[in-house]
Amino acid sequence: MIWDESLAVGNEIIDHQHQQLFSIATQLETLFEAYSETDDNYDEIIRILIKLHLYTMKHFEAEEKILEAVDFPGLAMHKKEHQRFILFLERIKVEAIETDRYQTLLDLLAYVVNWIMSHVKGTDSAYVPYLPCEVKL
Ligand SMILES: [Fe+2]
Repeated sequence: MIWDESLAVGNEIIDHQHQQLFSIATQLETLFEAYSETDDNYDEIIRILIKLHLYTMKHFEAEEKILEAVDFPGLAMHKKEHQRFILFLERIKVEAIETDRYQTLLDLLAYVVNWIMSHVKGTDSAYVPYLPCEVKL
């Protein structure tokens, strides 16, 4: 999963954090490609999922603060989308991944990668016209 300039929203903080999110998602993809039932890197995948959860919370908080500062009219809806994703990440219970790990992780990863990509590409692009060149907090 590669971040490129076409995904830039034009705010230094947000763009940097989006790049970090993409890089964590890429770590998950890479780990998953090397996954095998016998000699698995399951613990490492869970560790990165937790890292993704924590970083996502930090990023959403920063992004929402910036959008509040510029009075972005779509903020309430945007926050709801963020909350839904956080809820999804919170619901990932390690115990639930005990059965059919491979398929569960595959579905999980597909969802996470898809969500981040379509959110950054679609939902986030809606606030670009509202961002001044530089937002100082
Ligand atoms: Fe967002």
